[in-house]
Amino acid sequence: MLTREENEQLCRIGPDAPMGRMLRRYWIPAALGHELEAGGAPRRARLLGEDFVVFRGNDGVIGVLDELCPHRGASLVLARNEDCALRCLYHGWKIDASGRVIETPAEPKEHHFADRVRANAYPVYEAGGIVWTYLGPPGTEPPKMEFHWMSLPAEHRMIQKAREECNWVQCLEGVIDSAHSGFLHSNVIKPVPGEKTIIPEDQGNTQRPSDDLAPRIEVEDTPFGFRYAAIRRPLIDPEVRDYVRVTLFIAPFIALFPAANGWTSMQIFVPMDDEHTMFHFVQTRHDKPIDDLTRTRRAKRSGMQLGIDLDPLTYRKIRHRENNWLQDRAAMNTGSFTGMHGVNNEDIAMQESMGPIYDRRKEHLGASDIAVIRMRRIMLDGVRRFVEEGAPPVGLSEPVDYTALRAVERMVPRGVRWQDDLVAT
Ligand code: FES
Ligand SMILES: [Fe+2]
Repeated sequence: MLTREENEQLCRIGPDAPMGRMLRRYWIPAALGHELEAGGAPRRARLLGEDFVVFRGNDGVIGVLDELCPHRGASLVLARNEDCALRCLYHGWKIDASGRVIETPAEPKEHHFADRVRANAYPVYEAGGIVWTYLGPPGTEPPKMEFHWMSLPAEHRMIQKAREECNWVQCLEGVIDSAHSGFLHSNVIKPVPGEKTIIPEDQGNTQRPSDDLAPRIEVEDTPFGFRYAAIRRPLIDPEVRDYVRVTLFIAPFIALFPAANGWTSMQIFVPMDDEHTMFHFVQTRHDKPIDDLTRTRRAKRSGMQLGIDLDPLTYRKIRHRENNWLQDRAAMNTGSFTGMHGVNNEDIAMQESMGPIYDRRKEHLGASDIAVIRMRRIMLDGVRRFVEEGAPPVGLSEPVDYTALRAVERMVPRGVRWQDDLVAT
C-alpha cells in the first residue's frame, strides 16, 4: 500500500514532477530505427508528457526536436524532410537535426533572423534497433545502455511495441511479478517435467518444469536496480533442488527476464505521459536469425500483430477497456482461463483494467508482491534523494556493465544460494 502522496510521487512524470525530473536523466527509447526512413516521414514521439518529432535525414543522421516549430508552433511531424533538415509547411522555416534554423524564407534576408533562433534539439543514438534520446540538462547524459543482445545482427531480433492506456508503473509492476504467470498465462504455460522452460518451435504451449503456483520471491539489490528470484518446487526431484527464475529490474523502466531456448527477452516501458505507456517487447535469438515464420508466430502469440491487433502507426490496440479487451466468455467455458487472445495482451488487459493511475491506497500486498514492493521503495527513496540531496538517479550512482547482465533460469540444488549459482543457460 502507498499513501496518496507516495503514489503521486511514484507515478507522475511530467516536467515539474519529481519523478519526471529524475526520469529525464536516463536515455529513453523515442522510436524504432526502422520507423525512420532516410529522408522519409518524421514521427511523433510522446515522452514524459511532452511531444517531440523524430526524423532521419538523407545523410542518415537522426534528429529529435520539440514537435512544434519555433516560429509559431505548427507541428514539425507534418514538415517536409528536405536535405537533412525539416522544412515547416506553414512558413517554410528549415531546421536541421542539431536544432539550427537554416532558413526563414518569409523574413527579409538582412534581418538574419535564422541566426537568432534555435529549436530545442536532444542528444540521440541508435542501438539495438532502438533510437534513444536524452531529455535532461545538456552535459548530464549517463553512459549509453548497451545490452548484450544489441551486438547481434538485426535479423536476430524482433521488437514489438504497443501503446498501453495506463500509467507506466502499472506496466512495470506486471513484469516483476512472477506469480501471475501461473494464472494469467495458464492458457499457454503448462507444467511439464523437465529441466528448463521450453517454447516449442511450433509455438505450442510453453513447457515449464514446475506446477508450483506460489513461488517464493527473494530480492537482491544491485547497482542497476535489483534482481529477484522466483523459487518454485520442480516436478522432478523437488526434495533436492529448486526451480529458480531470475528477473532483472534495470532502473527506471526496463526488465530482463528469462526466456527459453537461447532467446533473450527484455521489456521496456516508456512513459508517454501520466496515463499512457509505450510498451516495447524485445526478443532476441542468439543462435541464428529469426525466420519469418517464427516472427509471425511470436507476434501472433503475443497478441500484438501490426495491422491486426494494433494500428501500425500509433500502436493503439483494438482491444481496450470499452470492449473488455475482446474477452471471449464462451472460450472460458471451453478451456481458456482468460478468454483472451495473446500472452502480452493478457498482461496489458490486467494493467489497463486497474484504471489510468491505480490508487494504491486500496491494495493488499502479499508475499508474492515482494519484488513490486522493492521496486517502489527503491524508486521512491531514489527520487527523494535525487530531489532533496542531489544524489544520482537510481541505478546510475556507479558504472554498470550492461553487456554483462543476464536473466537466467536454473535448477539450483538445495543448500546452494541462487545468487552463487547464476550461470547463464
Ligand atoms: S510555424 Fe513553422 S514556419 Fe511558421
Ligand atoms: Fe505476464
